[in-house]
Amino acid sequence: MKMIPVPKLTPRHKELLGFVKDSWTKLAASAACSAVVAAMTAAMAYLVKPAVEKIFEQKNPRMLMLIPAAVLAVFIIKGLAAYGSGYLLNFVGQDIIMRLRNRLYGHMQDLPLSFFQREKTGDLMSRITNDVNIISAMFTSAITGSIRDCFTIIGLVSVTFFLIPKLAIYAFVIFPVAGIPIFQFGRKVRRVRRGTQEAVADMNSFLHETLSGNKIVKAFGMEDHEKKRFAQKSRRIFRLEMKETRVKVMSSPLMEFLGGVGIAFIIWYGGHQVIRGAYTFGTFMSFLTAVGFMYEPLKKLSKLNNAVQRGLAAVDRIFDILERESDIVNPPDPVSIPPGAHRIHFENVDFKYDATLVLKNINLEVAPGEIIALVGVSGGGKTSLVNLVPRFYDVTAGRILIDGIDIRQTRVEDLRRQIAIVTQEPILFNDTARNNIAYGNPNATEQQIIQAARAAYAEEFIRGFPRGFDTPIGELGSRLSGGQKQRICIARALLKDAPVLILDEATSSLDSESEALVQKALENLMQGRTTFVIAHRLSTIGYAHRIIVVANGRIVEEGRHDELLARRGEYYKLYLMQFGNNFSPGMTPVSN
Ligand SMILES: Nc1ncnc2c1ncn2[C@@H]1O[C@H](COP(=O)(O)OP(=O)(O)OP(=O)(O)O)[C@@H](O)[C@H]1O
Ligand SMILES: [Mg+2]
Repeated sequence: MKMIPVPKLTPRHKELLGFVKDSWTKLAASAACSAVVAAMTAAMAYLVKPAVEKIFEQKNPRMLMLIPAAVLAVFIIKGLAAYGSGYLLNFVGQDIIMRLRNRLYGHMQDLPLSFFQREKTGDLMSRITNDVNIISAMFTSAITGSIRDCFTIIGLVSVTFFLIPKLAIYAFVIFPVAGIPIFQFGRKVRRVRRGTQEAVADMNSFLHETLSGNKIVKAFGMEDHEKKRFAQKSRRIFRLEMKETRVKVMSSPLMEFLGGVGIAFIIWYGGHQVIRGAYTFGTFMSFLTAVGFMYEPLKKLSKLNNAVQRGLAAVDRIFDILERESDIVNPPDPVSIPPGAHRIHFENVDFKYDATLVLKNINLEVAPGEIIALVGVSGGGKTSLVNLVPRFYDVTAGRILIDGIDIRQTRVEDLRRQIAIVTQEPILFNDTARNNIAYGNPNATEQQIIQAARAAYAEEFIRGFPRGFDTPIGELGSRLSGGQKQRICIARALLKDAPVLILDEATSSLDSESEALVQKALENLMQGRTTFVIAHRLSTIGYAHRIIVVANGRIVEEGRHDELLARRGEYYKLYLMQFGNNFSPGMTPVSN
């Protein structure tokens, strides 16, 4: 016969138990309370004996007063102890969950951008909410509750041994046998459970996409298609849940049947003994009561395994993330970056996201205060190139220097503090307009925030919001236009006031009039700062000191506007595409 399989303790579980260690005083206190509960339950069972013997058989009037009083006292003590142990156990459980959740979120925040581009947002959310809650259930209801149940059973078993030792021995060989199928069920539940949790995460990420991207669903008439896809996912969860249910609901009737066998045996054997006069009727009743009291805690314990298996499946999903390490790390002895404008130097830089090289042998030196414009066809590698500067990704080969220091030799926080970015897609948080602008600058004064908004030509429309600068952006929903979002992002970068600026299509959603205005603000801002500007519209880069043409992962041309036109190469082609044939090669870009 197989041994009862005990879940193997992996390093992950040990680490989780490390969380428990920190709360050991509370855990010990609650264990003490649980012991009191167990002792009182055992006392209750035991009191049946004197009650039957002294009151019903001997009809002792003093005991008629004393025993009910004792019962009352036992219940009061048991109630207080149950409250204490329940409160403390849940406190410990919830505390562990809170710390685990914070640790998970904290860890995710420290993972590199590549992690977030690979994983689905909905799936990650599901781990922090759904999976952590499953562990919470394991701790609060199962593991913690089971401490009390175990104590109670030990107490009751002691009582039965004290009363009729021989019968107790017979009766309790049955229980371990009962445990075997229950543990087998548990293993199966755990396997199914992991599948269910993955299915739930999958549904979450589906929901995230189709609800946040609902505009496209509608525009392409895909409502029915998405309904169908959702129904399939729902159905999959239903099937998995039912698979788990089939196993779970079987364990309870099985327990009851085994319990019934035990009780029948006790009545048969105990009855014999009482009839023979070996034991009193009171002793027998007390024994039977103790066995009866065992039913509840045993039933709970049998469910413990299911809950633990579910919990362990969730633990795995959480540790899959916790064990992922960031490849963007701080060096052991970081070099600090000197203040002032910076020189940025790309030296033989290669870069790939996965398999194929996206940037090939990039050599580029940008002087302090120089404004570099990056142009080129879509997919050429412009965004990838500037992403390397704040170490969103690390180079695959070569190096990038800031003032002669390899950026991997500096602290990531230090490096990023030097850089203000306006990304290609405007990203705003569900917070007030003010806080969106002051993001990353908690000490910004009201005056500075308004100035930044004014310089980005965002002040006017923000003041037109229902509550001005205090209007939560989320409340506006999609009422913000693309250009308005972009201007808030520009204000945010302006406020950061960093020596290096990266503007990735920062004005692409603006009309020519507001672009001209914002452009002026940006030009003022660029003064004295090392700047990378990515632009599709060549008309907007007239102020650049140097233009870099990126195509197919390489820098194919660089120089000033007229030099590049004269060369009649890539830049010339781009220019032709935008302005047609009607220009004279010497003309400067139209800057409105
Ligand atoms: N996160 C990513 N993972 C894998 N490949 C990527 C990723 N981001 C971009 N790429 C690939 O890298 C190449 C360069 O993309 P990049 O975004 O740098 O181009 P771009 O010049 O900024 O284009 P655009 O002008 O359209 O913004 C493309 O082939 C693109 O498919
Ligand atoms: Mg880009």
